[in-house]
This record gives sequence, structure tokens and C-alpha cells, in this order.
Amino acid sequence: NSMLSWQRTAFHFQPPNNWMNDPNGPLYYKGYYHLFYQWNPDSAVWGNITWGHAVSRDLIHWLHLPLAMVPDHWYDINGVWTGSATQLPDGRIVMLYTGATTESVQVQNLAEPADPNDPLLLHWAKSEANPVLVPPPGVGLTDFRDPTTAWRSPADSSWRITIGSKNPDHAGLALVYKTDDFLNYDLLPTLLHVVSGTGMWECVDFYPVATDPAIQVGLETSTPPGAGVKHVLKASLDDDRNDYYAIGTYDGEGADTWTPDNAEIDVGIGLRYDYGKFYASKTFYDPVGRRRVLWGWIGETDSERSDILKGWASVQSIPRTVLLDTKTGSNLLQWPVVEVENLRMHGKKFNDIVISPGSVMPLDVGKATQLDIEAVFEVDTLATSKSITGETGAATYSCDMGAGAVGRGLLGPFGLLVLADDDLLERTAIFFYLIKGVNGNLTTFFCQDELSSSKANDLVKRVYGSLVPVLDGENLALRILVDHSIVESFAQGGRTCITSRVYPTKAIYESARIFLFNNATNIQAMRRRRTVEDRCTQRRASKALNAVL
Ligand code: FRU
Repeated sequence: NSMLSWQRTAFHFQPPNNWMNDPNGPLYYKGYYHLFYQWNPDSAVWGNITWGHAVSRDLIHWLHLPLAMVPDHWYDINGVWTGSATQLPDGRIVMLYTGATTESVQVQNLAEPADPNDPLLLHWAKSEANPVLVPPPGVGLTDFRDPTTAWRSPADSSWRITIGSKNPDHAGLALVYKTDDFLNYDLLPTLLHVVSGTGMWECVDFYPVATDPAIQVGLETSTPPGAGVKHVLKASLDDDRNDYYAIGTYDGEGADTWTPDNAEIDVGIGLRYDYGKFYASKTFYDPVGRRRVLWGWIGETDSERSDILKGWASVQSIPRTVLLDTKTGSNLLQWPVVEVENLRMHGKKFNDIVISPGSVMPLDVGKATQLDIEAVFEVDTLATSKSITGETGAATYSCDMGAGAVGRGLLGPFGLLVLADDDLLERTAIFFYLIKGVNGNLTTFFCQDELSSSKANDLVKRVYGSLVPVLDGENLALRILVDHSIVESFAQGGRTCITSRVYPTKAIYESARIFLFNNATNIQAMRRRRTVEDRCTQRRASKALNAVL
């Protein structure tokens, strides 16, 4: 539908049409990044799930390839569901995925490239041994899905995979299997981890991160635990449709269990990858970039009717490098892969802007539908030291209470408006909100307000956000990717991230603008030094890859 075609993104991954959900089996092979994904070939709503497939040289420009796998056996006839790739030391690739059987039982299946010499990995051979795993006793027949990339046991160098499930008491959990050949598996008696009250764990991910500030590279999935290594466990909570992670220690020599550093911010009750729309994510290790790269499924927040009208649903997040934040030690840093910066065409800088309380100021970057924004805010310490303490405790604020970006507080909200029209009838606000506690310390919230993002009335519009750690002496830093119908924001170098899908009706094409705003009542002279990189990469970015190929 051409009326809605502006909603398609330009530099986020999307299939040509129809429904997409989870990223599957990302890997790097013979010069190409591969992305597989849950895809419905027949419609813009979920169903008939196959594996779509695309390749890229740079994680940004993609060549769409034929379907990698379709439901054609009893063990996956109701869907070729989510799975992960493992590259063995001899170069062999094994793909493990969940199949929904004729009876809709969830089983795990093995597939391998039919021709390992084909760098495009066009054809996949499902194993004669499928299914290689069926739900074990005590596990619900429909609570057993999404196998991870395998890692080598540091104890005996056999392989381990983990699979999410839940127990009858509604605790989310991760089962661990041992295998030598990916055909035969032993269920280990202990769980990798279990958290009460969190329900079904979908799309579990488990990987090492480096703790040494001097070694800020990604770690290969089989990197053994020990000095300088922590392990991240992530689960996608079916109950609330968010991706939760925690940092902890993997005991690979003993029982194959993982323990969070801080039980109060355990998986499912603590940190999220993203406080907006972001789900069913998966990482892979990129041996060329020596980095761990995260993909997340960004669904629609419009109606199913609109999805059918426009003929497609969902995009993937910008691939994000993931590192442990060695400054705080307690969260990850997510950052758009560096290749995104190659898309910056027209740079515009705005320096030392001062914006007074209660004002909105346009920033002229021309057409503003595709942007890569970097902004730094210097908070006027005089204002913060004058501000009344203890009036509103940090404990009582949250992004989704009150009026969002149009509320007025002592030290916030202030930030940017993107995908806005000249009259500000439509705008998406990305903002900080500071609160000074009774002890004199500042607490910083990072929020994204969709409430006025569109005049359309078939949308879910929310104010998203959470706390963001800000260390002594740090300015407030923002990175925002704007791409037609998605706003992906990263605060403080990626400590807290928020993704929104927005559907403006006026702030489109040449009418899209950006603004600075300050609704704080007590920051007299907030100086904002900011840079806007206005990118104008052409749409249909995959055409560029066609040329390369
Ligand atoms: C997550 C999920 C997975 C499943 C797949 C089916 O979004 O429900 O658990 O394998 O999608 O499409």
C-alpha cells in the first residue's frame, strides 16, 4: 500500500514483505554475515513460520536470498521455529532449531549446510536423525524451545546447549544438555538457572563478556569462565514480552550452573536490553570484528489491520555490539555496529546551545526522516545544587507516570523531539529527567515518550524508560537513530536503550523535523553541546549490496 510505504525503514533490516519475528542463527561464514529470521511467506501476521535468509558484507546492506528452511517434515510441519548456529573448530556449521510437530509438540532439530563450499549457504539439509531432542519428562510439550549456540564445556570439551522452559510453579528456567556429536544429547541433572515467577523463558542466550577494561573486545562463545570473564544470561519473558539479562558467573567445571552477581537484579526481574519494543533477541560472535553482535526483533505497535494494509510487519534492531560496562561493572553497553557510521552523508554540528526553561528550539537539519544523532548535555551544576532536595524522591518517579515529556519538573524533562512536524502536532520525545535525592545525589532517568508521536488512533503509545547510571564527572550523552518508523536510542554510551515504533502522519517526508526542548523549571542555563549527523542513505539499501556482489 503506497499510502503507508513511507513507514518502511531505510537502514534497518526488513524482509521485502509479510510478517517477520525473531532473528535466527546469525553467523559469519566465508566473507558474509548471515541473518535468518522467522518469516510468514503468506501474510503480514504470524503463521506458517519458515526461515527467511539474507546475507551482508557489512551488517547494513543486505541481499535477500531464498527461504533457508520451510515446514516440510512431521517434526516441523507446524513451524520452523527459532534456532541458533554453532561453528565447530573444523569449520562445520550446525544449526539447531525448534520444530512444531504435527501434534504441535516442541522438539529440537538439526540442520547443516548442504554445500559447505557455498558462501551463501543457500541450501540446508535437515538431519535424518530429527528430532534430536523431545521434551524431557516433567517439561510441558509446548514449553521447550529455542536452543542456543553451543559452547564447549571447559571441563571435558564436549558441547553444551541450553533451552528455555518453565516449571509447573511458573518459574522460568534454562535446561542444559551435553552432546559430542549434536545427534545424541544428555540432559544434565542441574539447571543452568531458574527464577521463580518469571514464566516461560523464550530465546535464551548465554555468552561470555570480558571484564578487563583494557580488553574491550567480544569473546567467542566457548571462552571458558575464569579470571577476566563473566557470563551473561538472557531470557525473553513470554509473560511480559521483554528481554531481560543479568551478569554472573558460570561454573563450567562443576555442575554447569550460572549464578547472578546480584540476586536482586536476576534474569527477568532486573535489567532489560531495551526498555521499549525489543524482543526475542540473539547474539553471535563476529570473528572479523572481534565483537559480539546483538540482534533484536522490533515488532509493530500499530494494529493488525494496518499491518495487513501495509503488507508487512516488524523490523530488526540495528545490530548492536555488546560489551560489559567495565566502569559500572553491573550492566552491558550496547552500541550500533560501527558500520552504521558509514551511512552518514551530511554532517551538521550545533555547538554550545543554551535553552531556557520551558522552551522548544528547532534544529535545522533539513529533511529528518533518517538521522544518526549524537548529543551531549552539560547539566548546569549551579542549578542542580540550588534545586530543592528531597521534594520528589527518585523512588517515586518513573518514566511512565505523569505527563511524560510535557510534564514540568525541577530538573527535567529535557532532550530532543524527533519525527516532529513544524507545529509539533506530532513528535516523539527522547529525554532525561534528573532527581535530586535527600542525600544530595542525582538520579538520572532516560525516557522516550510516544504519546504524541502520531495522530493515528490505532496505536499503542507509551512512555518508556528506566534509570541510567551516570558516573561522577560525566555529561549526559545520547545517540539516537531515526529511521522513518523506528526511533532507537542509547544513553550514556549504551547503558540504557529504548526503541520505539512510531507512525507519524504529518511528520513524514520533507515535513519531518527535530527540536531541542527543556521542560525543567529549575535549570537556568542548561548548555547543550550537540552534533547531528544527518544521513541520507538512499532507501532500498540492499541494491548497493547487489552491486558489490
Ligand atoms: C519468540 C518465539 C519463539 C518461537 C518463535 C516462533 O518470539 O515465540 O519462542 O520459537 O517465536 O515463531
